[in-house]
Amino acid sequence: MNPDTQRNRQQVPLARPELGAREEELVLAVLRSGQLSLGEMGGRFEREFAAWLGVEDAVMVSSGTAALHLGVRMLGWGEGDEVVTSPFSFVASANCLLYEGAKPVFADVEEETLDLDPAAAAAAVGERTVGLLPVHIFGFPAAMPGLEALAQRHGLGILEDACEALGAIDSEGRKVGARGNLATFAFYANKQMTTGEGGMIVPRDPGEAARLRSERNQGRAVDMGWLDHDRLGFNYRLSDLAAALGVAQVEKLDSLLARRAAVARMYEQRLAGLEGVRTPVASRGAEVRSWFVYTVRLPRGADRDAVIRRLAGRGVASKAYLPCIHLFPHLRELGYSEGQFPVAEAAAADSLALPFFPAMGEAQVDRVCQELAAALGQGS
Ligand SMILES: Cc1ncc(COP(=O)(O)O)c(C=O)c1O
Repeated sequence: MNPDTQRNRQQVPLARPELGAREEELVLAVLRSGQLSLGEMGGRFEREFAAWLGVEDAVMVSSGTAALHLGVRMLGWGEGDEVVTSPFSFVASANCLLYEGAKPVFADVEEETLDLDPAAAAAAVGERTVGLLPVHIFGFPAAMPGLEALAQRHGLGILEDACEALGAIDSEGRKVGARGNLATFAFYANKQMTTGEGGMIVPRDPGEAARLRSERNQGRAVDMGWLDHDRLGFNYRLSDLAAALGVAQVEKLDSLLARRAAVARMYEQRLAGLEGVRTPVASRGAEVRSWFVYTVRLPRGADRDAVIRRLAGRGVASKAYLPCIHLFPHLRELGYSEGQFPVAEAAAADSLALPFFPAMGEAQVDRVCQELAAALGQGS
C-alpha cells in the first residue's frame, strides 16, 4: 500500500483523551487499596482541583449535569421560577432547571463569542426571573461582569456552566469558575481534562460545600452513619477510580491546555486561506478561550451534511455542533420555536466541529484542513 493510502486509512477522531503512566499508577493504587469509593483519592482530587483553580473548595460529583442540578437546588430555583440562559449550549444547562420545575428563559447569544448576550439577557428578565445561568460555550468566557451587574440590579442568583471552559480567563483576568459564583465543570472524555465521567461544583462558602457533599451522598452528613439521612439527597458520588484519573489529569492540566491551544493555532493558520470559513476567536482583550472543541463556521450556502459525509469517507470525523436547545421537542413544549434567537440559530446551522485533541500533530491538522478544503470545493 502506498504511504498516502495508508495515511488516509487512519481515522482522525473528533476527540481523544490523554491517558498515560501516571493515570495507570494512581488508578492501580486505588484498586490495590480496596477502597473504590468514599476513600482518600476523592478528597485529594477535590483539593488539587481547587488549588489549581485558585478557589477555597470544590466538590466532585458524578457528572457535569449532576453538578448543575445541585447548583440549581442550592440556589433554590424551582416551580414557577424563571432563569435566563443560553439557547446555544449542551442540553444539560436547560434540563437542570426542568428537573426542579424551573423554566429556562432563553436569550440570544453574542455573534463573536456565542455566549449569552448581556443586553438580550437584560431584556429577558421579567417578574418571575430568579436567576441567570450563563454557559461559557466552547471554552470562551461569558461576559460575567455585565451579567453580574444585571443580577445585582434585580437580585438574581447566578449559576455558571463552565463545563466546557476549564482554564478560560475572563475579561478581568480571572479563571472562569473562580469569581465567587456557584460554578460547574465536567470531565467527560472529550473535555480539557477527564475522569471518564465526572463533574465538579465550586461552592460559595463552607456551608454550601457541606450541603453539596451531603446531597451528592443521599443526604448523609459527613459525620453521619451509613443509613442516616438528614435531607433529600442523590447518588451523585464519583468513585475513587475516577478521582485517581482526576488527580493525574490536574497534574498535567497546564500542559494539556497549552497543547490544545497549540493545535488551535495550527488550525487557525491553515484555515486562513479557506474562503468563507470563519475560525473561532482565541482571545479578545484579557479574555482567553480554553480550547474545548475546534468549531468553524462554514461558508454561506455550504452543504454541511455533505461536508460531514465527505470527510467521514476520507476518515476524518466531524460533527454538526451545536444544535439549539430551544428547538428540542421537550423545550418546544414550553412554546419555543424557530426564529426566536437568530444569532444562536445561525451558528447552529453552519457550525462544524473538527477533530481536536492535545496529541494532534501537524500532519493530522494538515490532513483535516486539506480534506475540508476539498469538501468545500476549494482543494488545490
Ligand atoms: C455546556 C455543558 N454543560 C453541561 C454538560 C454536562 O456534563 P456531563 O456530560 O458531564 O453531564 C456539558 C457536557 O458536555 C456541557 O458541554
